[in-house]
Amino acid sequence: MTIDEKTAQDLEGLLAGGETVDSLYGELRSSFDTEKSALSSEEQLKAFRDRWAGRKNGLLTHANDHWLKKAPREIKPQVGRLQNETKKHIEAGLADAKTNLGQSKQAAEGIDVTLPGPPRLIGAPHPLQLVFNEIEHIFHGLGYSIAEGPEIESFYYNFEALNFPADHPAVDEMDTLFLRDGSLLRTHTSPNQIRIMENQKPPLRCLVPGKVYRNDTADSTHSPMFHQIEGFAVDRDITFSDLKGTLGYFLRRFFGEDTRIRFRPSFFPFTEPSAEVDIYWEGRGFIEVLGCGMIDPGVFKHVGYDSEEYSGFAFGLGIDRFAMLKYNISDIQLLFQGDVRFLRQFT
Ligand code: DAH
Repeated sequence: MTIDEKTAQDLEGLLAGGETVDSLYGELRSSFDTEKSALSSEEQLKAFRDRWAGRKNGLLTHANDHWLKKAPREIKPQVGRLQNETKKHIEAGLADAKTNLGQSKQAAEGIDVTLPGPPRLIGAPHPLQLVFNEIEHIFHGLGYSIAEGPEIESFYYNFEALNFPADHPAVDEMDTLFLRDGSLLRTHTSPNQIRIMENQKPPLRCLVPGKVYRNDTADSTHSPMFHQIEGFAVDRDITFSDLKGTLGYFLRRFFGEDTRIRFRPSFFPFTEPSAEVDIYWEGRGFIEVLGCGMIDPGVFKHVGYDSEEYSGFAFGLGIDRFAMLKYNISDIQLLFQGDVRFLRQFT
């Protein structure tokens, strides 16, 4: 008689035929174990679970209905205990079969779950971002807000409104990259002075970071794309002392409290007077770090400000240059190559 046939018969008949409750439940369990060991697919496991643990027609239910329920009173507790143990055995066996199948599936697919996974490198802020964040933080404390402007610019904003005469040599000196339609890639962030002043009234304190482009051949100190920050302040009664005070404060916070700073007269079409600022670098002497000046009345005229009422100062600096100084980087190209070995040093 098969186990299916036996679980379909009442207990008393089976006992009369020479079975014992122990042998019956023992056979139930060993049949379960034997069939379990032959499982090799999810579908088989599903059918196997129904066959053994199905609520209505599973073999466990049959044993419960024909063996336990029909058991004579004096052996009922014993049969109940065996039924219970067998139920647990089958439930544990089903869970076990599921795990085994999952593992053999991974093995068949060639997955070794004991191998460590590929390491995922944690990203870090780029040194240019770190430098910008720090500069932004310093100026934020002085009440400056951050703005941005387009990288494709018109001749008007990049040169004309900034007081460059059309035939000014700077148009060539700045190695401008023109587009076919006559627009250009901005050569500096200064056009944003115009864009912002056109749309807002003083008092203004702004910082404008961004990419700028010049037709330069790449080497250790040049790149056809680099980064600048434009800063400017416009209000009543702004003087050159405000400019010196602001930039001196900024440079000392950025490079260190005892940084030696030198203002040198210079020329920019959009500022008058203009200056370049140097800081003293051990072993290199004074090196230039930014350009600045009082905003030229000619610029105010382009944006409709009354230069009798308002005055202001502006400055421009290279973020790449600041990063190279701060982190002692000797080749500007390193900033643009995305080499993780280089970038990882700035975490
Ligand atoms: N735009 C200048 C350049 O790219 C830098 C500069 C100089 C900006 C003086 C200014 C300034 O705002 O006042 O060379």
